[in-house]
Amino acid sequence: MSAQPIGVFDSGLGGLTAVKQLRAIMPHENIVYFGDTGRVPYGNRSVTTIRRYAAQDANFLLSNNVKMVIAACGTVSSAAPEVGENLPVPYTGVIAPTAKAAVEATQNGRIGVIGTRATILSCSYKKEIERLNSELQVFQKECPLFVPIVEEGFISVDDPIARLTVERYLEVLKKEKVDTIILGCTHYPILKAVIGEYVGTDVKLIDSGKETALYAEKLLKEKGLLNESEEEGECKFFVSDRTEGFSDIASIFLHSNIGENVSRVDIQHY
Ligand code: DGL
Repeated sequence: MSAQPIGVFDSGLGGLTAVKQLRAIMPHENIVYFGDTGRVPYGNRSVTTIRRYAAQDANFLLSNNVKMVIAACGTVSSAAPEVGENLPVPYTGVIAPTAKAAVEATQNGRIGVIGTRATILSCSYKKEIERLNSELQVFQKECPLFVPIVEEGFISVDDPIARLTVERYLEVLKKEKVDTIILGCTHYPILKAVIGEYVGTDVKLIDSGKETALYAEKLLKEKGLLNESEEEGECKFFVSDRTEGFSDIASIFLHSNIGENVSRVDIQHY
Protein backbone atom coordinates (compact mmCIF):
# COMPACT_ATOMS: atom_id res chain seq x y z
CA MET A 1 0.00 0.00 0.00
CA SER A 2 1.40 3.38 -0.96
CA ALA A 3 0.02 6.91 -0.92
CA GLN A 4 2.86 8.09 -3.16
CA PRO A 5 1.56 9.53 -6.43
CA ILE A 6 1.51 7.86 -9.83
CA GLY A 7 3.62 9.89 -12.27
CA VAL A 8 2.27 10.43 -15.78
CA PHE A 9 3.92 12.35 -18.59
CA ASP A 10 3.21 13.28 -22.17
CA SER A 11 4.49 15.79 -24.68
CA GLY A 12 1.41 17.94 -24.02
CA LEU A 13 -2.24 17.48 -23.28
CA GLY A 14 -2.78 14.01 -24.74
CA GLY A 15 -1.66 12.12 -21.64
CA LEU A 16 -4.66 13.60 -19.87
CA THR A 17 -6.72 10.92 -21.61
CA ALA A 18 -4.77 8.40 -19.51
CA VAL A 19 -5.22 10.53 -16.37
CA LYS A 20 -8.97 10.61 -16.93
CA GLN A 21 -9.04 6.81 -17.10
CA LEU A 22 -6.69 6.40 -14.11
CA ARG A 23 -9.01 8.55 -12.02
CA ALA A 24 -12.04 6.55 -13.10
CA ILE A 25 -10.37 3.19 -12.38
CA MET A 26 -8.39 4.18 -9.26
CA PRO A 27 -10.14 7.20 -7.70
CA HIS A 28 -8.07 7.00 -4.49
CA GLU A 29 -4.71 7.37 -6.20
CA ASN A 30 -2.73 10.62 -6.14
CA ILE A 31 -1.37 11.64 -9.54
CA VAL A 32 1.39 13.97 -10.71
CA TYR A 33 1.05 14.90 -14.37
CA PHE A 34 3.69 16.57 -16.50
CA GLY A 35 2.83 17.88 -19.98
CA ASP A 36 5.80 19.15 -21.97
CA THR A 37 3.75 21.93 -23.54
CA GLY A 38 6.86 24.00 -24.27
CA ARG A 39 8.28 21.30 -26.59
CA VAL A 40 5.15 19.64 -28.01
CA PRO A 41 4.91 18.01 -30.52
CA TYR A 42 7.47 15.23 -30.10
CA GLY A 43 6.11 13.22 -33.02
CA ASN A 44 8.09 14.92 -35.78
CA ARG A 45 11.41 14.98 -33.90
CA SER A 46 14.43 12.71 -34.12
CA VAL A 47 14.79 9.65 -31.92
CA THR A 48 17.79 11.26 -30.17
CA THR A 49 15.77 14.30 -29.20
CA ILE A 50 12.74 12.28 -28.08
CA ARG A 51 15.02 10.13 -25.88
CA ARG A 52 16.55 13.19 -24.22
CA TYR A 53 13.16 14.76 -23.59
CA ALA A 54 11.71 11.51 -22.24
CA ALA A 55 14.60 11.08 -19.77
CA GLN A 56 14.07 14.62 -18.46
CA ASP A 57 10.32 14.08 -18.14
CA ALA A 58 10.82 10.86 -16.17
CA ASN A 59 13.45 12.51 -13.93
CA PHE A 60 11.07 15.33 -13.14
CA LEU A 61 8.40 12.85 -12.06
CA LEU A 62 10.91 10.93 -9.91
CA SER A 63 11.81 14.20 -8.18
CA ASN A 64 8.14 14.23 -7.09
CA ASN A 65 8.55 10.91 -5.29
CA VAL A 66 6.26 8.95 -7.63
CA LYS A 67 5.74 5.21 -7.12
CA MET A 68 5.32 4.51 -10.83
CA VAL A 69 6.06 6.26 -14.12
CA ILE A 70 3.65 6.09 -17.04
CA ALA A 71 4.78 7.42 -20.43
CA ALA A 72 1.28 8.31 -21.62
CA CYS A 73 2.69 9.14 -25.02
CA GLY A 74 2.75 6.86 -28.05
CA THR A 75 5.74 8.70 -29.45
CA VAL A 76 7.92 8.26 -26.35
CA SER A 77 6.78 4.66 -25.91
CA SER A 78 7.76 3.94 -29.53
CA ALA A 79 10.97 5.94 -29.95
CA ALA A 80 12.40 5.79 -26.44
CA PRO A 81 11.29 2.52 -24.81
CA GLU A 82 14.60 2.33 -22.91
CA VAL A 83 13.55 5.30 -20.74
CA GLY A 84 11.87 2.81 -18.41
CA GLU A 85 14.82 0.46 -18.16
CA ASN A 86 16.78 1.88 -15.25
CA LEU A 87 14.08 3.56 -13.26
CA PRO A 88 13.84 2.76 -9.52
CA VAL A 89 10.03 2.39 -9.83
CA PRO A 90 7.70 0.37 -12.09
CA TYR A 91 7.23 1.82 -15.57
CA THR A 92 4.91 1.36 -18.50
CA GLY A 93 4.51 2.90 -21.91
CA VAL A 94 1.37 2.53 -24.01
CA ILE A 95 2.37 0.02 -26.71
CA ALA A 96 2.07 -3.42 -25.09
CA PRO A 97 -1.28 -2.93 -23.29
CA THR A 98 -2.86 -1.27 -26.34
CA ALA A 99 -1.62 -3.82 -28.87
CA LYS A 100 -2.92 -6.65 -26.65
CA ALA A 101 -6.38 -5.06 -26.49
CA ALA A 102 -6.48 -4.69 -30.28
CA VAL A 103 -5.45 -8.31 -30.84
CA GLU A 104 -8.26 -9.40 -28.53
CA ALA A 105 -10.79 -7.09 -30.21
CA THR A 106 -10.32 -7.87 -33.91
CA GLN A 107 -12.58 -10.42 -35.55
CA ASN A 108 -11.52 -10.15 -39.18
CA GLY A 109 -7.79 -10.03 -38.39
CA ARG A 110 -7.30 -6.58 -39.96
CA ILE A 111 -6.07 -3.91 -37.57
CA GLY A 112 -5.39 -0.25 -38.35
CA VAL A 113 -2.84 1.74 -36.38
CA ILE A 114 -2.77 5.52 -36.38
CA GLY A 115 -0.10 7.58 -34.67
CA THR A 116 2.47 10.31 -35.01
CA ARG A 117 5.23 10.09 -37.62
CA ALA A 118 7.77 8.83 -35.08
CA THR A 119 5.36 6.16 -33.82
CA ILE A 120 4.49 4.89 -37.29
CA LEU A 121 8.12 4.94 -38.46
CA SER A 122 9.14 2.84 -35.47
CA CYS A 123 6.46 0.19 -36.32
CA SER A 124 6.16 -0.31 -32.56
CA TYR A 125 2.49 -1.31 -32.53
CA LYS A 126 2.82 -3.40 -35.70
CA LYS A 127 5.76 -5.37 -34.26
CA GLU A 128 3.97 -5.97 -30.96
CA ILE A 129 0.76 -7.11 -32.70
CA GLU A 130 2.72 -9.45 -34.96
CA ARG A 131 4.63 -10.79 -31.96
CA LEU A 132 1.30 -11.63 -30.31
CA ASN A 133 -0.25 -13.12 -33.45
CA SER A 134 1.71 -13.32 -36.69
CA GLU A 135 -1.43 -14.05 -38.72
CA LEU A 136 -2.94 -10.62 -38.18
CA GLN A 137 -2.64 -7.92 -40.83
CA VAL A 138 -1.65 -4.44 -39.71
CA PHE A 139 -2.24 -1.25 -41.71
CA GLN A 140 -0.45 1.85 -40.43
CA LYS A 141 -1.17 5.50 -41.09
CA GLU A 142 0.59 8.53 -39.67
CA CYS A 143 -1.70 11.44 -38.83
CA PRO A 144 0.59 14.38 -38.00
CA LEU A 145 -2.16 17.02 -38.05
CA PHE A 146 -4.25 15.38 -35.34
CA VAL A 147 -2.07 16.61 -32.45
CA PRO A 148 -2.22 20.33 -33.36
CA ILE A 149 -5.93 20.02 -34.07
CA VAL A 150 -6.50 18.61 -30.60
CA GLU A 151 -4.19 21.12 -28.92
CA GLU A 152 -6.20 23.89 -30.64
CA GLY A 153 -9.45 22.40 -29.34
CA PHE A 154 -10.95 21.61 -32.79
CA ILE A 155 -12.52 18.46 -31.43
CA SER A 156 -16.27 18.55 -31.93
CA VAL A 157 -18.03 16.27 -34.41
CA ASP A 158 -19.30 19.38 -36.18
CA ASP A 159 -15.87 20.93 -36.61
CA PRO A 160 -15.16 21.04 -40.37
CA ILE A 161 -11.37 21.01 -39.92
CA ALA A 162 -11.49 17.93 -37.69
CA ARG A 163 -13.92 16.14 -40.03
CA LEU A 164 -11.93 16.83 -43.19
CA THR A 165 -8.63 15.85 -41.61
CA VAL A 166 -10.06 12.61 -40.26
CA GLU A 167 -11.48 11.76 -43.67
CA ARG A 168 -8.20 12.53 -45.46
CA TYR A 169 -6.10 10.34 -43.16
CA LEU A 170 -8.48 7.46 -42.50
CA GLU A 171 -9.81 6.88 -46.01
CA VAL A 172 -7.08 4.31 -46.63
CA LEU A 173 -7.94 2.32 -43.49
CA LYS A 174 -11.59 2.29 -44.49
CA LYS A 175 -10.60 0.90 -47.89
CA GLU A 176 -8.56 -1.83 -46.20
CA LYS A 177 -11.69 -2.85 -44.24
CA VAL A 178 -10.02 -2.88 -40.84
CA ASP A 179 -12.44 -3.74 -38.03
CA THR A 180 -10.23 -2.35 -35.26
CA ILE A 181 -8.19 0.85 -35.08
CA ILE A 182 -5.57 1.61 -32.45
CA LEU A 183 -5.66 5.28 -31.48
CA GLY A 184 -1.90 5.04 -31.09
CA CYS A 185 -1.32 8.55 -29.80
CA THR A 186 -2.82 9.62 -26.50
CA HIS A 187 -4.14 12.80 -28.10
CA TYR A 188 -6.37 10.86 -30.46
CA PRO A 189 -9.10 9.66 -28.05
CA ILE A 190 -10.10 13.32 -27.91
CA LEU A 191 -11.08 12.94 -31.57
CA LYS A 192 -12.86 9.64 -30.94
CA ALA A 193 -16.31 10.98 -31.75
CA VAL A 194 -15.17 12.45 -35.08
CA ILE A 195 -13.20 9.33 -35.99
CA GLY A 196 -16.07 7.05 -34.94
CA GLU A 197 -18.52 8.95 -37.06
CA TYR A 198 -16.29 8.58 -40.12
CA VAL A 199 -15.31 4.91 -39.79
CA GLY A 200 -18.69 3.73 -38.48
CA THR A 201 -19.86 1.93 -35.40
CA ASP A 202 -18.66 -1.50 -36.58
CA VAL A 203 -15.04 -0.46 -36.23
CA LYS A 204 -13.66 -0.77 -32.69
CA LEU A 205 -11.48 2.12 -31.55
CA ILE A 206 -8.82 1.14 -29.04
CA ASP A 207 -7.92 3.97 -26.66
CA SER A 208 -4.24 3.79 -25.65
CA GLY A 209 -4.86 5.94 -22.55
CA LYS A 210 -7.55 3.60 -21.28
CA GLU A 211 -5.68 0.35 -21.94
CA THR A 212 -2.55 1.75 -20.29
CA ALA A 213 -4.49 2.88 -17.22
CA LEU A 214 -5.97 -0.62 -16.86
CA TYR A 215 -2.51 -2.15 -17.17
CA ALA A 216 -1.09 0.31 -14.60
CA GLU A 217 -3.72 -0.77 -12.11
CA LYS A 218 -2.79 -4.42 -12.65
CA LEU A 219 0.91 -3.67 -12.17
CA LEU A 220 0.38 -1.66 -8.99
CA LYS A 221 -1.83 -4.40 -7.59
CA GLU A 222 0.80 -7.06 -8.34
CA LYS A 223 3.49 -4.99 -6.62
CA GLY A 224 1.29 -4.21 -3.59
CA LEU A 225 1.51 -0.50 -4.37
CA LEU A 226 -2.15 0.50 -4.56
CA ASN A 227 -3.26 3.30 -2.27
CA GLU A 228 -5.87 1.84 0.05
CA SER A 229 -6.98 5.19 1.45
CA GLU A 230 -10.71 5.89 1.27
CA GLU A 231 -10.11 9.54 0.41
CA GLU A 232 -10.34 10.81 -3.14
CA GLY A 233 -6.86 11.15 -4.65
CA GLU A 234 -5.31 14.51 -5.55
CA CYS A 235 -3.94 15.47 -8.94
CA LYS A 236 -1.13 17.95 -9.46
CA PHE A 237 -0.44 19.28 -12.93
CA PHE A 238 2.83 20.64 -14.28
CA VAL A 239 3.64 22.07 -17.72
CA SER A 240 6.80 23.46 -19.31
CA ASP A 241 5.15 26.50 -20.90
CA ARG A 242 2.54 29.04 -19.91
CA THR A 243 -0.01 27.81 -17.42
CA GLU A 244 -2.71 30.21 -18.61
CA GLY A 245 -5.10 28.40 -20.85
CA PHE A 246 -3.88 24.93 -19.81
CA SER A 247 -6.54 24.55 -17.13
CA ASP A 248 -9.33 25.51 -19.57
CA ILE A 249 -8.41 22.94 -22.16
CA ALA A 250 -7.39 20.34 -19.54
CA SER A 251 -10.79 20.70 -17.92
CA ILE A 252 -12.41 19.82 -21.27
CA PHE A 253 -10.19 16.74 -21.59
CA LEU A 254 -10.80 15.56 -18.04
CA HIS A 255 -14.48 16.52 -17.88
CA SER A 256 -13.75 18.21 -14.55
CA ASN A 257 -12.44 21.58 -13.53
CA ILE A 258 -8.75 21.65 -12.51
CA GLY A 259 -8.92 25.35 -11.63
CA GLU A 260 -5.54 26.96 -10.93
CA ASN A 261 -3.94 23.66 -9.97
CA VAL A 262 -1.14 23.86 -12.54
CA SER A 263 2.48 25.03 -12.18
CA ARG A 264 5.27 25.73 -14.60
CA VAL A 265 8.49 23.74 -14.44
CA ASP A 266 11.84 24.39 -16.14
CA ILE A 267 12.24 20.92 -17.62
CA GLN A 268 15.72 21.58 -19.05
CA HIS A 269 17.08 21.30 -15.48
CA TYR A 270 16.10 17.64 -15.08
N1 DGL B 1 0.49 12.26 -27.05
C1 DGL B 1 1.64 12.12 -27.90
C2 DGL B 1 1.66 10.71 -28.45
O1 DGL B 1 0.97 9.87 -27.88
C3 DGL B 1 1.63 13.28 -28.77
C4 DGL B 1 2.42 13.32 -29.90
C5 DGL B 1 3.39 14.43 -30.12
O2 DGL B 1 3.86 15.08 -29.21
O3 DGL B 1 3.71 14.59 -31.30
O4 DGL B 1 2.34 10.35 -29.38
